[in-house]
Amino acid sequence: MDDAIQAVGERLAQARHVVVVTGAGVSAESHIPTFRDTMHGLWAEFDAEKLATPEAFATDPETVTRWYDWRRLGCLHAEPNPGHLALAEIERRIGDLGGKLTLLTQNVDGLHLRAGSRRVAELHGSLHRWRCTKTGKETRPGPEAFETYPPPSPFAEDGMLRPSVVWFGEMLPEQALRAADEALWSCDLFLSVGTSSLVHPSAGWVHLASARGAVTVEVNPEETAITGEVDWALRGKSGEVMPRVLDAMLASL
Ligand code: OAD
Repeated sequence: MDDAIQAVGERLAQARHVVVVTGAGVSAESHIPTFRDTMHGLWAEFDAEKLATPEAFATDPETVTRWYDWRRLGCLHAEPNPGHLALAEIERRIGDLGGKLTLLTQNVDGLHLRAGSRRVAELHGSLHRWRCTKTGKETRPGPEAFETYPPPSPFAEDGMLRPSVVWFGEMLPEQALRAADEALWSCDLFLSVGTSSLVHPSAGWVHLASARGAVTVEVNPEETAITGEVDWALRGKSGEVMPRVLDAMLASL
């Protein structure tokens, strides 16, 4: 593994258009549950169909907004881990070299932004932004739990607030998709970190990057749907592997 990390670090030092796709695994070491981990993933404990769909919200807005506010508060109490911090530092270093790193995250916990990453596209939205069901206007709730569920909208008397996250069956934010298209177009190095690569369109982007000649890397303690497709599969936790990749990059500069 040391040789593979060394090789990836060297590639990072040479890369000028890096795309990173992250999933819940990046936040696992910040004690935020992933979705599909068999024992303690969110989908093992909760029913996605009853909580993460527009239909669920229409049927039972109180339960859905209470669950999302519980997740939001959990994320506020979590801290970015060394994997988030290493990705933010790699972005800065690539910027110093005249390149750019675009981070396409499926996570809604906001930890990449809190870690200092700047070029972040939140593909599935954010738990820290809620919007009015009537006007679509967004607000950023404070550090306390909402007082009532569903929370009333501050923008329309007969409106409610819903989390600005992508539910199953909903479209991804246009701006995030545009950022992904632009970044993938010129990508010379693609990293998939902490995702099972089961949810599209992000699950298919490794093929797009590879077809455009990018070197592809995966960081995950387990095999995933794309492990057989990547050039380098770094088997380990992102909080442990990414700092080593950063060190290897700095040693190659
Ligand atoms: P999953 O729960 O599907 O996958 C988490 C991945 O993280 C798995 O491959 C784990 O092996 C890996 N993992 C666990 N601990 C890790 C660690 N310390 N370091 C690195 N990797 C680790 O979560 P996602 O792939 O993010 O969508 O799921 C994608 C989407 O499916 C989510 O955004 C969500 C979910 O339904 C929506 O809600 C729309």
